[in-house]
Amino acid sequence: MNPYETDRLLAEYLLFHYGSPEEILPSNAPTGMREAVGFPVRTVAHFTLGNVERGLDLGCAVGRSSYEMARSCGEVTGIDFSRSFVRAAEAIATGPLPYFRKDEGHLHTNLIATLPPDLADGVVHFEAGDAMDLRADLGAFDRVHAANLLCRLPEPRRLLERLASLVKPGGELVLATPCTWLDEYTPPENWPAGGTLEWIESHLAANFDLIRTAEEPFLIRETARKFQWTTSQISLWRRHS
Ligand SMILES: C[S@@+](CC[C@H](N)C(=O)[O-])C[C@H]1O[C@@H](n2cnc3c(N)ncnc32)[C@H](O)[C@@H]1O
Repeated sequence: MNPYETDRLLAEYLLFHYGSPEEILPSNAPTGMREAVGFPVRTVAHFTLGNVERGLDLGCAVGRSSYEMARSCGEVTGIDFSRSFVRAAEAIATGPLPYFRKDEGHLHTNLIATLPPDLADGVVHFEAGDAMDLRADLGAFDRVHAANLLCRLPEPRRLLERLASLVKPGGELVLATPCTWLDEYTPPENWPAGGTLEWIESHLAANFDLIRTAEEPFLIRETARKFQWTTSQISLWRRHS
């Protein structure tokens, strides 16, 4: 079964995207853990400031980055392969969404995911789709965001090759990847032969300039005492005019 369709990952991602620091962190959390909260907001902040027309969030999961993009995009489309994630991303716009945070064994805490009150609703549309085989009539976007998606795709090259037609001339692309290549998601023959950034650049350089790179840490809480702390490599690209 696709892990991203399970109730366990749905709850982990609702907490990851919408949980408060108090809901996510243990009381003794060191600074590094605290700094890793808020990843779906921080990745969107890598776009250049200013308002644009159309945004696309690929592998949007439960939607927080899509809603964040709507602060400066007239309309946003969020696409994810998981129907369960897409349903949750849509539901949260209509009201508070209850979920369980796993603490240990059979112990859970009831939590409620809500959109921050200043986030625009009505301009974000979600749909289930495959980032390697996007529908032909999606059109082109001023901003495309794909966080922690590339190394979850069986054939990531297919997405990289589609990006030039998805980003308008002068538009921006934010890719974030922890480069955690795993054969349960991507056959090793489809992993980059060398460094992931150089491999991305080899696919994008004909149509994009690399503006800058950065690292953004993120924290996914599995239980009260078990967390995934990971750092994702951010690259901001601008489509040739
Ligand atoms: C590691 S999560 C990252 C989610 C989100 N962008 C974030 O940063 O929290 C990977 C996401 O990609 C989605 N995904 C996996 N394969 C996909 C595909 N072929 N097309 C679109 N989304 C896919 C998963 O369902 C999951 O929501």
